[in-house]
Amino acid sequence: MNVDDALRWDGELTLTRHDPETGTTFIIRVDSLRHGRSAGGTRAAHYGSPTAALEDAGRLAGAMTLKMAVSNLPMGGGKSVIALPAPRQDIDAATWNRILSLHAENIDRLNGAYWTGPDVNTSSADMDILGDTTNFVFGRSIDRGGAGSSALNTAVGVFEAMKATAQFRGLGDLDGLTVLVQGLGAVGGHLATMAAQAGARLLVTDVNSERIAWAQDFGCSPVSPAEVTATPCDIFAPCAMGGVIDSTIARQLPASAVVGAANNTLADDEAGSVLRDRDVLYAPDFVTNAGGAFHLVGHEVLGWDADTVAGHIRGIGQTLTQVYEISDAEGVSTDTAARTLARRRTDSLEAVAV
Ligand code: NAI
Ligand code: PHE
Repeated sequence: MNVDDALRWDGELTLTRHDPETGTTFIIRVDSLRHGRSAGGTRAAHYGSPTAALEDAGRLAGAMTLKMAVSNLPMGGGKSVIALPAPRQDIDAATWNRILSLHAENIDRLNGAYWTGPDVNTSSADMDILGDTTNFVFGRSIDRGGAGSSALNTAVGVFEAMKATAQFRGLGDLDGLTVLVQGLGAVGGHLATMAAQAGARLLVTDVNSERIAWAQDFGCSPVSPAEVTATPCDIFAPCAMGGVIDSTIARQLPASAVVGAANNTLADDEAGSVLRDRDVLYAPDFVTNAGGAFHLVGHEVLGWDADTVAGHIRGIGQTLTQVYEISDAEGVSTDTAARTLARRRTDSLEAVAV
């Protein structure tokens, strides 16, 4: 995408800042403030260009709006992208601390229109550092007054989604099914453990060999990262970065269903329809991965206790079943059906002043 197209975006607000000292570009995109302040995590990554980072931030912020809407959470969507000068593991501690403090200044300047939280390459410990400069942070450590990591509850939600999808697709329960988890990080690691405990046969892939070794210890079989979308399985669970399934991959993906955590799993608009035509049941990511938002917004905005959060996360399976029913009834992809459900759930709400 060129910079003109990346700027032709229908969200509400973009903040950008460049730090010449570290070579870091900061982007915050607020997609929607219609139903309240916006929220979405901080993603730190090494992008090919600032334009790619800008585009990613817009797409990720849009996904947060859909996630909040379909989950009946009273916030809009936003996202931060920190475009690093090198891969995260090559950034030293002093540079990382400077990056976090500049990012916190940027968030604070938005005066609460945008709240951040953890995402790829940012943790609760990083949220604690942001919290030294700004109050608009979810997911700080529990002993610092936050709700802690959202990863476990995200994985629990994806697991609920997996069970509901297997049932709807006629695969029964997970016992004996082959589940392929891509990305054994904070979410994928928990998900692989839960699926294995439910009796699934686990195939796993990660670019980090230590994570693979960890999973082999409980019986998972490794698959090469390059082979992941060509490996037959019952359920493919993308839990790394987005854009894994484009329409070309959708035409040959050897799976019966796709249920993962990765935000923006589909790389193009056609992929969802291609999967539907091939009877591959796709669980839209902004429905399946809402466990983290229930955890953070539930505990920190709505004052829910752990049981209430857990009840809402169990509801992800029912929401997905509704999505599948709309898809069947209206003859549209599950992605389109989930957008329809998100719109129906918010159409009746009044706009609020932020
Ligand atoms: P993470 O950074 O802890 O884990 C990502 C894992 O994917 C790492 O182990 C990494 O080595 C691996 N990976 C990266 N590129 C890969 C590739 N090409 N092939 C195979 N493995 C690869 O991130 P986390 O928190 O587990 O998030 C995973 C996904 O879930 C992200 O897309 C994130 O936006 C999404 N998500 C996370 C939530 C959370 O609460 N942490 C909530 C909702 C969505
Ligand atoms: N980054 C996670 C997500 O994509 C968790 C998160 C939710 C962070 C809500 C901030 C706000 O859902």
